[in-house]
Amino acid sequence: MPYVTEENITDVAIERWATCHSPRMREIMTSLVKHLHAFAREVELTHEEWLAGIQWLTRTGQISDDKRLEFILASDVLGLSMLVVMMNGRTPTGATPNTVLGPFHIEGSPELPNGGDMAGDASGEPCFVTGVVRDLDGNPVPGAVLDVWQADGDGVYEAQMAGREEPLLRGIYRSGPDGRYCVRTVTPLGYSIPMDGPVGDLIRQTSISEYRPAHIHFLVEAPGYERVITHLFREGDEYLDTDVVFGVRRELITQFRRMPDGPTPTGEVSSTPFWQIDFDIVLNKAA
Ligand code: BEZ
Ligand code: FE
Repeated sequence: MPYVTEENITDVAIERWATCHSPRMREIMTSLVKHLHAFAREVELTHEEWLAGIQWLTRTGQISDDKRLEFILASDVLGLSMLVVMMNGRTPTGATPNTVLGPFHIEGSPELPNGGDMAGDASGEPCFVTGVVRDLDGNPVPGAVLDVWQADGDGVYEAQMAGREEPLLRGIYRSGPDGRYCVRTVTPLGYSIPMDGPVGDLIRQTSISEYRPAHIHFLVEAPGYERVITHLFREGDEYLDTDVVFGVRRELITQFRRMPDGPTPTGEVSSTPFWQIDFDIVLNKAA
């Protein structure tokens, strides 16, 4: 091995990491070294800047636990999470596209009947989300499992509420024989990502908005179809064009319709006005 110079250290380091035992790991690590060195050379990284970066990464690790996923948040705001989602979940035109899972999904939500209320004691205006789960040929997909979750009227998810035991604003629904589903909830609002950690420190040094547009999360699975992890977004929301985690895709923007008091999609009569969202979920056949 030659002794290092500023000119040859990248090649020397790549050669060393090319000893990774797995071919894929070798590809990833040698490329990582190549791009890290290119980055440091391009910006002429100073020792102080390198140390500031290391300290930021250290704080990011220190604040993280099984609920606070600060590294994932960093990946989200850098657009890396969404790039990985899109590269790994390419869907044909017409199929519902994937977007970020986000850190607030909780496994094992309560099973609710079609039209069942997942809002519990959450404040907000009543809202019904209805639609058909279907395939690309327009055939209904019965028995699809829809795992649905959202934040409350203060922009807080159950996963962020320390000590809460009762499920809040999450439920598992199944599409009926005609592919139809119906979720009863409250209208979602836009909210800020957690700003009290290293990611917030970084965002405050920019003009980036820390807000996500109002959305409801869906994870939909049906035998024989590709799983889709997605959101529906509210048309006209002020943060659609600036979503801090780059999660908005055109196909996911839906109209929230204000309905007068009267019959709701479940057949019950509401004594107050309510919101209705029609959101069809189009699944792609599994390969
Ligand atoms: C969310 O939608 O729940 C979310 C996604 C990425 C980062 C923070 C929150
Ligand atoms: Fe969310």
